[in-house]
Amino acid sequence: LVQPVIMAGGSGTRLWPLSRARYPKQFLILSGNTSLFQQAATRLAALAAGDLALAKPLIVGNEEHRFLVLDQLQESGQEPSAVLLEPVGRNTAPALTLAALQALEGGQDPVLVVTPADQTVTRPEAFTTSLQQAVRLAADGTIVILGIKPDRAETGFGYIRSHLDGASLAVEQFVEKPDAATAERYVADGNYCWNSGMFVLRASRWIEALQRFRPDILAATRAAFEARKIDAKFIRPGKAEFAAIPSESVDYAVMERCPGSEFPLRMLALDAGWSDLGAWDAVWQVSDKDAEGNACVGDAMISDSKNTLVHASSRLVSVVGLQDVVVVETADAVLVSDRARSQDVKHIVARLDAAG
Ligand code: GDD
Ligand code: MG
Repeated sequence: LVQPVIMAGGSGTRLWPLSRARYPKQFLILSGNTSLFQQAATRLAALAAGDLALAKPLIVGNEEHRFLVLDQLQESGQEPSAVLLEPVGRNTAPALTLAALQALEGGQDPVLVVTPADQTVTRPEAFTTSLQQAVRLAADGTIVILGIKPDRAETGFGYIRSHLDGASLAVEQFVEKPDAATAERYVADGNYCWNSGMFVLRASRWIEALQRFRPDILAATRAAFEARKIDAKFIRPGKAEFAAIPSESVDYAVMERCPGSEFPLRMLALDAGWSDLGAWDAVWQVSDKDAEGNACVGDAMISDSKNTLVHASSRLVSVVGLQDVVVVETADAVLVSDRARSQDVKHIVARLDAAG
């Protein structure tokens, strides 16, 4: 059995002011005409094949977005097997643990295909083929990650170094979010891939690896899961128990520690036009652009400018003579940023949060 899992509880702060606490980026339409979350669900639904029985997806997200999750899935012609609702965000390690515990409830040990909800793929057929291959590889207990050929020294990603070993790649090193100098070294080296953020592994394997590397997170998440309340498709872990879980990502909690341990990682290269829409620069990269490299969304006018993105939501926005700038307008906030600095929008959001 193959169990798709979508992690949809992030806050997407670097896409402020469009991405907000109540309506974070995974539920926004940033490319094409469906949301990033819907695109993730549609890609996973295509994994069913003759020998691969596919369960309905498990969604792990925030309590506040439960109706966005249900409505958007329904609009895509799908329904969840369950929606695990977190009262607060504790990053992806607890989220994946909830999904694994839920998946094991059925008495089987499915292969989980775990994906973020904030990515785009331009060649879905290639995606399907690679993920199906990953599922077959994971059946014997292997933990499989998907690597992307890097084209810049992005610091917001994990980096993977691997070598050919038999028919697939053995991972020697996994480094989550290196600093800029290290990322540049890795890209120049040529033997590193980006981590796509997707993980393919048996539910029991995740539990074993977490028990090995972060037993504290496993115990705390198990306590929250055991205190759960079930309300039709919604599953709510115990609130106080969940709040007590240490916050950590799958990458730091487990993946970085796997190489050289009794939990070896294997990597498959993914060549499917993958992109993580982490910040406005990435949205500009995947947008349709004019001959000067400008992209307009909504009621926008761009004159005598280059490589500029203007995203208008509630009124006409016009710009003149700009180069490599991002302008994002919403009813109550406007962002103007150097395109190359768009990662730093998170600092503005942190200041707004601190100010309440
Ligand atoms: N349920 C739940 N709860 N989901 C969460 C939480 C949480 O607390 N925090 C984040 N997520 C979701 C996000 O919505 C997103 O879909 C996914 O989990 C990944 O989280 P991000 O916060 O976007 O991670 P990242 O982009 O910094 O890094 C990951 O992805 C990169 C590729 O895009 C890592 O896996 C990197 O190694 C990887 O390169
Ligand atoms: Mg991300």
